[in-house]
Amino acid sequence: MTEIRNVVEKIKGDLMSERPYVIDEMISAKAIAARVEELCKNIQSEFVGTDKLIVVGLLRGSFVFIADLVRELDLPVEVDFLEASSYGDGMESSREVRILKDLRGAIEGRDVLVVEDIVDTGYTLSHVISLLKSRGPARLMSIALLDKPSRREVEVKADWTGFEIPDEFVVGYGIDYAQRNRNLDHIGKVRFTG
Ligand code: IMP
Repeated sequence: MTEIRNVVEKIKGDLMSERPYVIDEMISAKAIAARVEELCKNIQSEFVGTDKLIVVGLLRGSFVFIADLVRELDLPVEVDFLEASSYGDGMESSREVRILKDLRGAIEGRDVLVVEDIVDTGYTLSHVISLLKSRGPARLMSIALLDKPSRREVEVKADWTGFEIPDEFVVGYGIDYAQRNRNLDHIGKVRFTG
């Protein structure tokens, strides 16, 4: 049943991604940079004195955000990545989270910061947090660049959020639509024109 649903979602995604669209700017590159600076001050005061902070990026959408975060953080950091399945190539969450790529390193007894691009239904972040908690980190905190609270289906909130946004499909700053538009320097919303 799940397999069939995934195939249907994939076909829907393929068809949708053929539709023409434009991208309207929602959050400028300048506003993101200013917010990253503020967020890093908060992260730094939380983890002050840490011997090492393992910053875990959720692939692929967080890769730009994590790059900006770690360069702004004045802490000893290590970077690792985790890939969880969620949207595939469409616009709907699959609600079923699978780990496609696990961390390279152990996190037991370590300070960990999980970095997510967007919290939408909440399935991904909540799954990843419980998975990582089960590995016994000393401290586990989470940060999301964007949050769409009106879409939440699972009760979860990142410890820090860059921006709360309405229920719009967004791209840019690492975030994609069918693997496109990750290289925009700002966040824009997708508007179909046909
Ligand atoms: P959740 O499990 O529903 O919270 O989904 C989170 C994941 O869905 C994010 O990490 C994104 O990869 C993807 N996602 C959610 N909303 C959007 C969007 O507006 N644009 C692109 N990807 C999105």
